[in-house]
Amino acid sequence: MSGLLAGKRLLVTGVITDASIAFSVAKLAQENGAQVVLTGYGRLSLVERIAKRLPEPAPVIELDVTDAGHLAGLADKVREHVDGLDGVVHSIGFAPQSCLGGGFLDAPWEDVATALQVSTYSYKALAMAALPLMGPGSAVVGLTFDATKAWPVYDWMGVAKAGLESASRYLALHLGKQGIRSNLVAAGPLRTIAAKSIPGFEQFEDAWTERAPLGWSLTDQEPAARACLALLSDWFPATTGEIVHVDGGYHAIGA
Ligand SMILES: NC(=O)c1ccc[n+]([C@@H]2O[C@H](COP(=O)([O-])OP(=O)(O)OC[C@H]3O[C@@H](n4cnc5c(N)ncnc54)[C@H](O)[C@@H]3O)[C@@H](O)[C@H]2O)c1
Repeated sequence: MSGLLAGKRLLVTGVITDASIAFSVAKLAQENGAQVVLTGYGRLSLVERIAKRLPEPAPVIELDVTDAGHLAGLADKVREHVDGLDGVVHSIGFAPQSCLGGGFLDAPWEDVATALQVSTYSYKALAMAALPLMGPGSAVVGLTFDATKAWPVYDWMGVAKAGLESASRYLALHLGKQGIRSNLVAAGPLRTIAAKSIPGFEQFEDAWTERAPLGWSLTDQEPAARACLALLSDWFPATTGEIVHVDGGYHAIGA
């Protein structure tokens, strides 16, 4: 098998539709020589149906990142399909409605806690669940939305992403000795289920469409997926704790 990820075994979380960023990652990874195992949350039969649309049908393991039992059993479930992992993709985010769309000042702690557990803490939790299968040279990659700024409607999800960005640096610190890298891709706005759940998301769409120096497609997940593949590959062997922007250059310009 040839390709950027030839022979690599990957665990990819976060597929729910074929518009999911994770679906593009899984597809491109298979096209580039990787063996892919998916995890699915909630509507498993839907995820299994989507998995059949990949170039190679991929097995789907149930994983709710807030379920300690799922996390504890993950390595054994993955071992039923592959004997180890060279990469783990965290493509998971969720915040209750109160946390988004301008609700920053009123969202109750219980809802904020959910957003942080699913979108931030889970990055570390997933990495630790997969750690028994990972060795030197392997990589964890996650998806963020530039958290260096406060965005109009992103609210507690923005705080969760800031935490994710920090968590990735700490994971890089703590897993570096084992030769395991942790990096994030900061994607521009893409029309996925997660994005559509943000009231006012069209503000991002308009801003990017008008201002991104390279232009920006709201429906093309491939640029973000390509960056994930690059970070999972052997071509970033000395890079960890990094955030690669795949946003048409939007982060680099003044408003
Ligand atoms: N779409 C965008 O504009 C955009 C931009 C930058 C970053 N991101 C990030 O990309 C990642 C993937 O999102 P997407 O845009 O592909 O949307 P998506 O809706 O396709 O994927 C989100 C995934 O999170 C999963 N999930 C939610 N709660 C979970 C739980 N408790 N346990 C396990 N999985 C759970 C969902 O099942 C779904 O598969 C997220 O981290 C998101 O914040 C998205």
